[in-house]
Amino acid sequence: MKIHGRDARATFAGKRDAMKRTHTCGEMRKEHEGQAVTLAGWVQNYRDHGSLLFIDLRDRFGLTQVVFDTDRPEMLKLAQEVRCEWVLQITGKVRPRPDAMVNLKMATGATEVYVDTFHVFSRSAPLPFETDEYAKVNEETRLRYRYLDLRRPQMQRNLEVRHRVIHAIRGVMNDAGFLDIETPILAKSTPEGARDYLVPSRIQHGCYYALPQSPQLFKQILMIGGCDRYYQIARCFRDEDLRSDRQPEFTQLDVEASFLSADQIMDIMEGLFVVVFADFKKMSIQKPFPRMQWRVAMLKYGKDAPDTRFEMFIADITDLAEKSGFNVFKGAIKNGGMVRGLASPGCIDYSRKDMDDLTEEAKIHGAKGLAWIKIDNEGKYVSPIVKFFQNNLLDEIKDRLGAKPGDTMMFLADQEPVVCAGLAHIRLLMGRRHGLIDDSKFSFVWIIDPPLVEWDAEGKRWTSLHHPFTSIRLQDRELLKSDPGKALAQAYDIVLNGTEVGGGSIRIHDPELQRETFGVLGIGKKEAQEKFGFLLDALEYGAPPHGGIALGLDRLAMILTGSDSIRDVIAFPKTQKAVDLMSDAPSDVSPEQLRELSIKTAIKGS
Ligand code: AMO
Ligand code: AMP
Repeated sequence: MKIHGRDARATFAGKRDAMKRTHTCGEMRKEHEGQAVTLAGWVQNYRDHGSLLFIDLRDRFGLTQVVFDTDRPEMLKLAQEVRCEWVLQITGKVRPRPDAMVNLKMATGATEVYVDTFHVFSRSAPLPFETDEYAKVNEETRLRYRYLDLRRPQMQRNLEVRHRVIHAIRGVMNDAGFLDIETPILAKSTPEGARDYLVPSRIQHGCYYALPQSPQLFKQILMIGGCDRYYQIARCFRDEDLRSDRQPEFTQLDVEASFLSADQIMDIMEGLFVVVFADFKKMSIQKPFPRMQWRVAMLKYGKDAPDTRFEMFIADITDLAEKSGFNVFKGAIKNGGMVRGLASPGCIDYSRKDMDDLTEEAKIHGAKGLAWIKIDNEGKYVSPIVKFFQNNLLDEIKDRLGAKPGDTMMFLADQEPVVCAGLAHIRLLMGRRHGLIDDSKFSFVWIIDPPLVEWDAEGKRWTSLHHPFTSIRLQDRELLKSDPGKALAQAYDIVLNGTEVGGGSIRIHDPELQRETFGVLGIGKKEAQEKFGFLLDALEYGAPPHGGIALGLDRLAMILTGSDSIRDVIAFPKTQKAVDLMSDAPSDVSPEQLRELSIKTAIKGS
């Protein structure tokens, strides 16, 4: 009998073949009974009964119970030193567990391996937290010890789903004749609305590369270069405020094609979602997906990424509010604002304090208050503000909102962005709180015809809603000059359960229209030439009509795995402060490195 114990590392060096394993820890079933097997993995836990020691051995594929007993006292003694997260190799015989010990919750739970020999590959320092208590560990600690966190079955499953989704996507794109082409990471700025991550050049002092916010310009140039039908699983970098579904570096399925209409591009993407959902959710999703005009989404849902799993629609009541005697409403309208509302079930019993709490929720988005009117079960209106409304006016408002007895009508009066954001938030909150959202449902919707530009009141200029290379609808060409805010773009976002999982557009292939669009955005000739001269030049040499889309793969993986945080589907994510706690990036660099880059000062923490 061969026993490797304390001196395992020393003895192992000359025995490379001992690395062989015959099975994974997730494999053992009844049919393996009687077989001699070699397994390797981590000690998930151990139960020492004195004369009997059980270890659950874990690898990526599962858990197997291995057993040591007093028939081999010397080995049992060594095994009793083993602790959680040590890495072992064991060889032994598969045997059935006694009936009473069968664990139906474990895939391998009908069997166990009776150990002949074992070998310690490595020991583990005492753990910073119990591995079976991840739920109680704060995320900072988990990210600091990501290598331990990654051992969790949940993380392993998430990364595997992510891998398989990308594999399936590649299959669909390859079959549709798309070429996988890489584009540079050290590049020139591609504006997607965020700040750039810059990389200083050592050779050209004072010059910087920008990490791509997306491969947008390169993929358009690929089209001009005749490389029709491109895709890439592309890394993108955006220095922006982070949220649960945003990371500073993330992955897109980036797509571009020549000579395809928006409808054709959307159809290819729908086909891809059908395959992915059939594979990973065992669901058959119906094509074509519904489409909704951007302005309808903003009106009825208050946002351009509506959760269409439940019906609770916002309605405009500005005209009716004007007829009331309620100065809060009338004042807002006089200031160029509007009044919109929705009817929520389930809050008729809310106390005054509950309504105040709800008002605070609306205030998160800049609202000054939240007006509400309950309709009791007899149909009577109940609110401190009913005195400002005649009854027939309240009836009209009720009809407009589709409210019924037992509902509470809630209203915001303000400028449009505040009203939309506030009511969108209240809608989701009420939907979630009152059980209107069916989490087993997957509801896709294309949001189409958004405005090309929006007014940035602070910067006093028009900015792109998508990016500056998106084409207007051809029928809106005149509007671009006369009333740019009214021109609609040939753009489409794909929204799933209220999350924007992708967005794309038909691009400008006419250099004149591109110049005109830059003009509207206040990007002068000189600036355009400096920033995008290479694209403008390329457009002069025969650009095909083209368009594309990018899907956020991390967000898709989040939805497919049911994760609450984007960090749970990325192996090494960053915190909300864009820090990698494990490797401690970003971090100081040496004075020599700075000198080489000709960077004189770095003012820390300012
Ligand atoms: P857009 O900026 O809409 O379009 O990005 C496409 C999709 O990428 C995902 N996404 C993100 N995911 C995680 N973290 C982030 N910080 C983040 N930012 C965006 C979203 C989004 O829908 N070049 C265009 C696409 C095109 O026009 O073809 C682009 O990048 O799911
Ligand atoms: P007040 O007259 O300020 O006491 O407000 C009466 C009610 O109107 C309260 O429920 C406020 O929360 C609400 N309210 C105040 N400002 C607004 C607003 N801009 N939009 C909607 N409701 C508001």
